[in-house]
Amino acid sequence: MSYQFYKTLHLVSVMLMFSSLGGLLLHAMNGGTKANNPSYKLAAAGHGASLLVMLVAGFGMLAKGGFSFATNPWIHIKLLLWFVMGALVMVPARAPGLAKPVWVAAPILGGIAAWAAIFKPFTAAG
Ligand code: HEM
Repeated sequence: MSYQFYKTLHLVSVMLMFSSLGGLLLHAMNGGTKANNPSYKLAAAGHGASLLVMLVAGFGMLAKGGFSFATNPWIHIKLLLWFVMGALVMVPARAPGLAKPVWVAAPILGGIAAWAAIFKPFTAAG
Protein backbone atom coordinates (compact mmCIF):
# COMPACT_ATOMS: atom_id res chain seq x y z
CA MET A 1 0.00 0.00 0.00
CA SER A 2 1.39 3.41 -0.92
CA TYR A 3 1.78 6.41 1.42
CA GLN A 4 -0.88 8.22 -0.62
CA PHE A 5 -3.28 5.27 -0.21
CA TYR A 6 -2.84 5.34 3.60
CA LYS A 7 -3.29 9.11 3.69
CA THR A 8 -6.50 8.93 1.62
CA LEU A 9 -7.82 6.17 3.89
CA HIS A 10 -6.81 8.24 6.94
CA LEU A 11 -8.70 11.29 5.71
CA VAL A 12 -11.82 9.31 4.72
CA SER A 13 -11.90 7.81 8.21
CA VAL A 14 -11.54 11.30 9.74
CA MET A 15 -14.59 12.39 7.70
CA LEU A 16 -16.59 9.34 8.85
CA MET A 17 -15.62 10.02 12.47
CA PHE A 18 -16.96 13.57 12.33
CA SER A 19 -20.19 12.68 10.47
CA SER A 20 -20.92 9.87 12.97
CA LEU A 21 -20.10 11.89 16.09
CA GLY A 22 -21.85 14.98 14.71
CA GLY A 23 -25.05 13.02 14.08
CA LEU A 24 -25.09 11.54 17.59
CA LEU A 25 -24.40 14.96 19.17
CA LEU A 26 -27.11 16.70 17.12
CA HIS A 27 -29.68 14.08 18.15
CA ALA A 28 -28.78 14.68 21.83
CA MET A 29 -28.84 18.48 21.33
CA ASN A 30 -32.43 18.10 20.04
CA GLY A 31 -33.42 16.23 23.19
CA GLY A 32 -33.11 12.80 21.63
CA THR A 33 -31.93 9.75 23.57
CA LYS A 34 -30.15 6.51 22.64
CA ALA A 35 -33.54 4.73 23.03
CA ASN A 36 -35.37 6.93 20.52
CA ASN A 37 -32.53 7.06 17.97
CA PRO A 38 -33.14 4.31 15.37
CA SER A 39 -29.76 5.12 13.75
CA TYR A 40 -27.77 4.94 16.99
CA LYS A 41 -26.10 1.59 16.20
CA LEU A 42 -25.11 2.72 12.69
CA ALA A 43 -23.57 5.99 13.91
CA ALA A 44 -21.81 4.34 16.86
CA ALA A 45 -20.43 1.58 14.61
CA GLY A 46 -19.33 4.20 12.08
CA HIS A 47 -17.50 6.09 14.82
CA GLY A 48 -15.78 2.95 16.06
CA ALA A 49 -14.80 1.73 12.60
CA SER A 50 -13.47 5.17 11.66
CA LEU A 51 -11.18 5.25 14.70
CA LEU A 52 -9.81 1.80 13.89
CA VAL A 53 -9.14 2.60 10.21
CA MET A 54 -7.69 6.02 11.15
CA LEU A 55 -5.20 4.35 13.50
CA VAL A 56 -4.20 1.60 11.07
CA ALA A 57 -3.75 4.12 8.21
CA GLY A 58 -1.92 6.50 10.57
CA PHE A 59 0.56 3.80 11.58
CA GLY A 60 0.83 2.81 7.92
CA MET A 61 1.97 6.34 7.11
CA LEU A 62 4.34 6.39 10.10
CA ALA A 63 5.98 3.19 8.85
CA LYS A 64 6.12 4.27 5.19
CA GLY A 65 7.33 7.77 6.14
CA GLY A 66 9.94 6.43 8.57
CA PHE A 67 8.60 8.62 11.40
CA SER A 68 9.89 7.51 14.84
CA PHE A 69 7.97 8.29 18.02
CA ALA A 70 11.09 9.47 19.83
CA THR A 71 11.88 12.32 17.42
CA ASN A 72 8.29 13.25 16.42
CA PRO A 73 6.35 14.51 19.46
CA TRP A 74 3.49 15.61 17.13
CA ILE A 75 2.52 11.92 16.83
CA HIS A 76 1.86 11.86 20.59
CA ILE A 77 -0.43 14.92 20.20
CA LYS A 78 -2.38 13.09 17.50
CA LEU A 79 -2.66 9.87 19.54
CA LEU A 80 -3.93 11.84 22.55
CA LEU A 81 -6.55 13.54 20.35
CA TRP A 82 -7.49 10.14 18.89
CA PHE A 83 -8.27 8.87 22.41
CA VAL A 84 -10.24 12.04 23.22
CA MET A 85 -12.29 11.76 20.00
CA GLY A 86 -12.93 8.11 20.91
CA ALA A 87 -14.17 9.01 24.40
CA LEU A 88 -16.43 11.82 23.12
CA VAL A 89 -18.83 9.26 21.64
CA MET A 90 -20.04 8.63 25.22
CA VAL A 91 -21.21 12.26 25.63
CA PRO A 92 -24.55 12.06 23.75
CA ALA A 93 -25.83 9.15 25.91
CA ARG A 94 -24.07 9.89 29.23
CA ALA A 95 -23.92 13.73 29.35
CA PRO A 96 -26.38 15.10 26.76
CA GLY A 97 -26.12 18.55 28.39
CA LEU A 98 -22.54 18.70 27.06
CA ALA A 99 -23.53 17.82 23.47
CA LYS A 100 -23.55 21.45 22.23
CA PRO A 101 -20.11 22.50 23.62
CA VAL A 102 -18.65 19.20 22.34
CA TRP A 103 -20.25 19.84 18.91
CA VAL A 104 -18.37 23.17 18.86
CA ALA A 105 -15.12 21.79 20.33
CA ALA A 106 -14.82 18.67 18.11
CA PRO A 107 -13.76 20.45 14.87
CA ILE A 108 -11.29 22.54 16.91
CA LEU A 109 -9.71 19.32 18.25
CA GLY A 110 -9.66 17.97 14.67
CA GLY A 111 -7.96 21.17 13.58
CA ILE A 112 -5.25 20.68 16.20
CA ALA A 113 -4.68 17.13 14.87
CA ALA A 114 -4.40 18.49 11.30
CA TRP A 115 -2.03 21.25 12.51
CA ALA A 116 0.12 18.64 14.25
CA ALA A 117 0.33 16.59 11.03
CA ILE A 118 1.04 19.58 8.76
CA PHE A 119 3.42 21.67 10.94
CA LYS A 120 4.91 18.73 12.93
CA PRO A 121 5.63 20.94 15.98
CA PHE A 122 8.47 20.27 18.48
CA THR A 123 10.28 18.09 15.90
CA ALA A 124 14.07 18.20 16.26
CA ALA A 125 15.57 20.29 13.33
CA GLY A 126 17.82 18.52 10.75
C1 HEM B 1 -8.35 12.95 15.97
C2 HEM B 1 -7.61 12.18 15.27
C3 HEM B 1 -6.92 12.58 13.99
C4 HEM B 1 -7.26 13.53 13.04
C5 HEM B 1 -8.45 14.47 13.03
C6 HEM B 1 -6.22 13.48 12.01
C7 HEM B 1 -6.19 14.31 10.90
C8 HEM B 1 -5.18 14.30 9.94
C9 HEM B 1 -5.14 15.16 8.77
C10 HEM B 1 -6.22 16.17 8.39
C11 HEM B 1 -3.99 14.87 8.09
C12 HEM B 1 -3.53 15.47 6.72
C13 HEM B 1 -2.56 16.54 6.91
C14 HEM B 1 -1.92 16.91 5.54
O1 HEM B 1 -2.63 17.32 4.67
O2 HEM B 1 -0.70 16.74 5.39
C15 HEM B 1 -3.31 13.84 8.82
C16 HEM B 1 -2.10 13.31 8.44
C17 HEM B 1 -1.45 12.37 9.18
N1 HEM B 1 -1.89 11.74 10.32
FE1 HEM B 1 -3.62 12.07 11.29
N2 HEM B 1 -5.30 12.50 12.32
C18 HEM B 1 -5.69 11.93 13.52
C19 HEM B 1 -5.08 10.92 14.20
C20 HEM B 1 -3.89 10.35 13.81
C21 HEM B 1 -3.25 9.26 14.52
C22 HEM B 1 -3.79 8.58 15.78
C23 HEM B 1 -2.08 9.00 13.83
C24 HEM B 1 -1.00 7.97 14.13
C25 HEM B 1 -1.21 6.77 14.51
C26 HEM B 1 -2.01 9.92 12.70
C27 HEM B 1 -0.95 9.98 11.80
C28 HEM B 1 -0.92 10.84 10.71
C29 HEM B 1 0.21 10.92 9.77
C30 HEM B 1 1.50 10.08 9.83
C31 HEM B 1 -0.13 11.88 8.82
C32 HEM B 1 0.68 12.29 7.57
C33 HEM B 1 1.61 13.42 7.88
C34 HEM B 1 2.36 13.81 6.60
O3 HEM B 1 2.10 13.35 5.51
O4 HEM B 1 3.26 14.63 6.70
N3 HEM B 1 -3.13 10.72 12.72
N4 HEM B 1 -4.05 13.49 9.94
